[in-house]
Amino acid sequence: MRFSLGALAAVLPLAAALPQITRSGKYLYDPSGTRFYIKGVAYQPQGNLAVSTEANEANGGFPEPSDFVDPLSSSTNCTRDIPHLKDLGVNAVRVYSVNASLNHDDCMKALDDAGIYVLLDVSLPLNGSIDRSSPSWTTNLLNEYTRTINVFNKYPNILAYNIGNEVINTVNNSNAAPFVKAAARDTKAYLNSINSKALVGYAAVDTDLEFRNALADYLTCGNESVSVDLYGLNNYEWCGAATYSNSGWNVITEGFRNLTVAAYMSEFGCIKEGPRQWTEVPAMLSAPVADVFSGGIAFSYFPTSDNYGMVTFSGDGSTVNVNSDFTALGRQYSNTSGPNSPAQSAQSNSVLACPPTSPILAASTELPPTPNEEVCKCINDNALGCKAIPATANNPIKVGALINQACGLLSQSNSTVSCTTIAGDGQTGQYGPLAMCSPDIKLNYVMSAYYDANPVATSCDFGGNATLSTSPLSAGAAQEAAASCLAGKPPIFTPTASDPPTSNTASPSSPATSSGKPSSAARVGAVLPTSSVATLVLGALGFVAGAAAVLA
Ligand SMILES: *[C@@H]1O[C@H](CO)[C@@H](O)[C@H](O)[C@H]1NC(C)=O
Ligand SMILES: *[C@@H]1O[C@H](CO)[C@@H](O)[C@H](O)[C@H]1NC(C)=O
Ligand SMILES: *[C@@H]1O[C@H](CO)[C@@H](O)[C@H](O)[C@H]1NC(C)=O
Ligand SMILES: *[C@@H]1O[C@H](CO)[C@@H](O)[C@H](O)[C@H]1NC(C)=O
Ligand SMILES: *[C@@H]1O[C@H](CO)[C@@H](O)[C@H](O)[C@H]1NC(C)=O
Ligand SMILES: *[C@@H]1O[C@H](CO)[C@@H](O)[C@H](O)[C@H]1NC(C)=O
Ligand SMILES: *[C@@H]1O[C@H](CO)[C@@H](O)[C@H](O)[C@H]1NC(C)=O
Ligand SMILES: *[C@@H]1O[C@H](CO)[C@@H](O)[C@H](O)[C@H]1NC(C)=O
Ligand SMILES: *[C@@H]1O[C@H](CO)[C@@H](O)[C@H](O)[C@H]1NC(C)=O
Repeated sequence: MRFSLGALAAVLPLAAALPQITRSGKYLYDPSGTRFYIKGVAYQPQGNLAVSTEANEANGGFPEPSDFVDPLSSSTNCTRDIPHLKDLGVNAVRVYSVNASLNHDDCMKALDDAGIYVLLDVSLPLNGSIDRSSPSWTTNLLNEYTRTINVFNKYPNILAYNIGNEVINTVNNSNAAPFVKAAARDTKAYLNSINSKALVGYAAVDTDLEFRNALADYLTCGNESVSVDLYGLNNYEWCGAATYSNSGWNVITEGFRNLTVAAYMSEFGCIKEGPRQWTEVPAMLSAPVADVFSGGIAFSYFPTSDNYGMVTFSGDGSTVNVNSDFTALGRQYSNTSGPNSPAQSAQSNSVLACPPTSPILAASTELPPTPNEEVCKCINDNALGCKAIPATANNPIKVGALINQACGLLSQSNSTVSCTTIAGDGQTGQYGPLAMCSPDIKLNYVMSAYYDANPVATSCDFGGNATLSTSPLSAGAAQEAAASCLAGKPPIFTPTASDPPTSNTASPSSPATSSGKPSSAARVGAVLPTSSVATLVLGALGFVAGAAAVLA
C-alpha cells in the first residue's frame, strides 16, 4: 500500500515553527527571554521604475517602482535561494511587495524551517501606498493591507508588517505623517482583532538629523494603540572601514536613544568604498548601538541596477553566484551575536509623550479617522447620482485626472460644496468627511455635487467617463441619504427623484452586513460618527438646496 503525501505529512512529526518574537519596551525578545536581533537581508527582486509625476518630484519624490515580482510566490526560487540565505547566517528577510492572490505556503514554510523570519511591507507600488504628493488614508488602502495580513497571518514566522517605506522624505511632505500614523493605528487594531502578535513597523528614509529624530518621535510617541512599535531607519552612512564615531552612527544612536519602542536599520550597506566588509555589523550588534537598535537588514540579496546586489543568477536562472559582499556579510553575521542584555524582566512598555506640535514637522497630532468602508459604500450607493463608468482595458479611467477636472468645475459652479469634503490636510489636521473613501467614490461625489449644482444631463458626462442614474436623486434626498449613512444608519429605501423619502424607518444602532457580522471597518475599530458629528459633517457634504430645512 502506498501513502499519499498528505498521509505522510500527518504521521511525520512536523518541524517546530519559529516562536513569536515580542517587544518589551525598546527591545525584542524570544519566548525564553533572550534578546532578539534582526540579522537580515532584503529579499525583493528590483522592479521597474515608474515615471515620476510632477507632483511627486515637487515633493522630494524618488523614482518608485511601478511593478514587482512576489519573491515568496515561487517555490522553485525559494528552494534555490534558501541555502544561500542560510550561508549568509540571516535570521530574517525583508520583503517589500507581495501579491495576496498567490500562494506563499511553500516559501514561508521553507523559510521557517531555515530559521528565518519575515518582515513584510504591506504597501504596494503606485496606488498601493500612501502618496506623499497627495497623502490620504483610505478604505482601499486599509483593505489592501488587511487582505495581505489575512493571507500571511497563518505563518508563524511573520515578525512584523511594515505599513510604509520612506513615505515622508522631506519636511515639505511631512504632512503625510498623520496618514502614516493612522495606517499604523488601524493595522495594529486589525492585528489585535485577529489575535496576531506581529509587530507594526515603518521604514524611514535617512535624512538630516533634526528631521530624522522628529519623525521617529512623531511616529512612535503616544498611546501604544497608535504608535509604530518597530521603527526602521534605511541608513547608508557607514561606508568602508568607518567607525562608530566617524560614520554618523553615534549621532543616530544618540538621537534615537529616547525612543520607547524597538528600532532597527531597515536597510544598511553603503557601497561607496569598494567591496563591502560590513564592519558595521559588529558595531550594530554591540553597545552602544545595540542599546538602541535591534539589528538590521543588509541591502540587498537580489541584484540591483545600482550595484547593491550580493548574488547574480546564471544559466536558466537556477544557478546562484555570490559575490564578495555576500561572503563578507556571511562572515560578519556568523561571527557576531548581540549581547543578551538588558533582561526582559527589566523592561516595561512606556510611552514617549507627543509634543503638542512639532517645531520641525508640518504634521498635525490630529490623525485622520479610521476609513469606514460601510459609510463610503452607503453614500455611494444611496446618495450619489452621477458616477464614473467602470474602467475597461480600452478606457482605463484616470481617476486622479477626473477628480481634478470635476473639482475645477465644481469650484467655478454655484455649488455651496467644494472638494474640501474629500480632502484631508495632514498639516492642519482637518479631514473632510469623505477623505477616508476610495478615489472612485471621491470622484463620484465630486461629479454628483457638480451635477446637483447644474442638473442638466451634460453635467454628468465628463468626456464620456460618467453616467447619470436613471432616477437621479434630488438634492434633498441625496442629502438625507448621506446623513443616514454618516449617522451609521444605512437607509433601506431606494430614493428616486419623484418620490423622495421623508423618513428613515430602519434604525439599526450600528452598521451590520446582511450576515449580521460587523463589517471589516467596524472590526478594526472604526468609530462611527454620532448623529451630532453627522450633523456637523452634513454642512460640508450639504447637497445644496434645502440643507437648512432638512436639518431643522
Ligand atoms: C496577482 O496575481 C494574480 C493572479 O496571478 C494576477 O491576476 C494579478 O494581476 C496579480 N496582481 C499584481 C498586482 O501583480
Ligand atoms: C490600484 O489600481 C488597480 C487598477 O488600476 C486596482 O485594481 C487596485 O485595486 C488599486 N489598488 C488600491 C489599493 O486601490
Ligand atoms: C520645500 O519646498 C520649498 C518651497 O516649495 C522649496 O523651496 C524647497 O526646496 C523644498 N525643500 C525640499 C527639501 O524639498
Ligand atoms: C490608549 O488607547 C486605548 C484604545 O483607544 C484606550 O482604551 C486607552 O484609554 C488609551 N490610554 C491612554 C493612556 O490614553
Ligand atoms: C532625550 O531625553 C532627554 C531627557 O528628557 C533630553 O534631555 C534629550 O534632549 C532627549 N534627546 C533627544 C535626542 O530627544
Ligand atoms: C524566479 O527566478 C527567475 C530567475 O531569476 C526570475 O526570472 C523570476 O522572476 C523569479 N520568479 C519569482 C516569482 O520570484
Ligand atoms: C569575529 O569576531 C571577533 C570579535 O568581534 C573578532 O575579533 C574577529 O576578528 C572576527 N572574525 C572574523 C573572521 O571576522
Ligand atoms: C450661477 O447662478 C447665476 C444666477 O442664478 C446664473 O446666472 C449662473 O449661470 C450660474 N453659474 C453657473 C456656473 O452655474
Ligand atoms: C475620460 O476622461 C479623460 C480625462 O479627462 C479624457 O482624456 C478622456 O477623453 C475621457 N474619456 C472619454 C471616453 O471621453
